[in-house]
Amino acid sequence: MPVTVRPLRESEWLPLVEALSQSFNAPVPGWERFRERLGDEQLRVAYDERERVIGGYAIYPMGQVWHGRSVPLGGIAGVGVLPDARGGGVAKEMMVDALAELHRRRIPIAGLYPATQRVYRSVGFEQAGERVRYEVPLSSLGGLRFEVDVTPVDPVDPQAVAVFRERYRPAHGNLDRSDAIWSRLSQPYVGRRFAWLLGEDGYAILQHAPIEGVPFDLELYDYAAPTAATARTLLALLAGHRSMAKKLRWQGAPSDPLLALVPEPTWSVVDLQRWMLRLVDVPAALRARGWAPGVSGELHLRVTDELLAHNVGDLVLTVADGEALVRPGGRGELRVGPRALGPLYSGYFTASQLSALGHLDGLDAAIATADRLFASPTPWMREMY
Ligand SMILES: CC(C)(COP(=O)(O)OP(=O)(O)OC[C@H]1O[C@@H](n2cnc3c(N)ncnc32)[C@H](O)[C@@H]1OP(=O)(O)O)[C@@H](O)C(=O)NCCC(=O)NCCS
Repeated sequence: MPVTVRPLRESEWLPLVEALSQSFNAPVPGWERFRERLGDEQLRVAYDERERVIGGYAIYPMGQVWHGRSVPLGGIAGVGVLPDARGGGVAKEMMVDALAELHRRRIPIAGLYPATQRVYRSVGFEQAGERVRYEVPLSSLGGLRFEVDVTPVDPVDPQAVAVFRERYRPAHGNLDRSDAIWSRLSQPYVGRRFAWLLGEDGYAILQHAPIEGVPFDLELYDYAAPTAATARTLLALLAGHRSMAKKLRWQGAPSDPLLALVPEPTWSVVDLQRWMLRLVDVPAALRARGWAPGVSGELHLRVTDELLAHNVGDLVLTVADGEALVRPGGRGELRVGPRALGPLYSGYFTASQLSALGHLDGLDAAIATADRLFASPTPWMREMY
């Protein structure tokens, strides 16, 4: 079906909300907040040949941290198509538009959480990191005491958010959060969030689930607890809810340090999501990221890309002292397309694994060099977008 994708026009907001509400089973007031957070310039709408709104999506402009350096990231979200317009390539057309739009804005990488992988893979996204959801019975967290001050704050108060921002220390793959992402963390679409500052270095943002009534569970949406005393205080604060609240859930790293403080192995992993990445501008993305300390080497890449012609060609990547130089040319010893570049870039899969999956091929020596250059801790993310 012929589809046009372009920026939102005021008169088309309600038809867009209709498409998004049906797609995500979420009511209208939430979409008003979504719009307010992002701004109309981040909303894009798909039309059929009769100019009917049939779908839309949004871009969260933010950053993503790779070995300590933030790279501009376009987070794709709210991808929805009216049920009667599905199966005709609308979503794929919207993703083609998203990549072109990010390229126009000079944003070198694109990311998303897939509800289905097929459509995103068809434009070059691939799995590139994790979001692990843990659950622990609060009854197993007895015996902990506050070791640092616990100060309640209003999570939507800008002064409190400024302190959260100062204390937020993004790890490999974490977001360099925009205002819209901080707003998502501190202000829910439904219900209420509670927050506390913990000592000199920590904070916690919490919501009850369900939003009313007992018993309930605790959803820890975000926290910082970089020292053991703060982390034990955080668990004590949460455990203090245990006469009425039954379980604690949070999203964290595959090797989450908070689990090390849970006295017995009473936790379970209740969900494991894999988010996807796509390099929009390969040389710019490689130049902008950080590299593991002490890593150096030279890699001759042959980049293929069926969708983004500006990426196609041979490149030499030279890494030294935490910096990358990228120049055109070289011997093309490692052949990579978009579905190899995303996970290689994030360090989620090694070049050897991607070769085994059939996503790249090249000389053994070049694969070994890529394994070494891109080696990293498992990239992860706490929040959805
Ligand atoms: C997912 C969604 C956006 C797809 O829209 P669409 O316009 O029907 O998708 P397209 O026609 O462009 O499909 C592109 C490819 O994805 C496949 N696909 C589409 N929806 C799919 C689904 N739900 N499950 C598996 N594959 C799907 C199509 O078969 C097609 O693959 P093919 O070309 O190999 O046949 C739409 O079903 C929707 O709005 N769903 C509800 C909201 C949602 O899940 N959004 C995604 C959030 S990440």
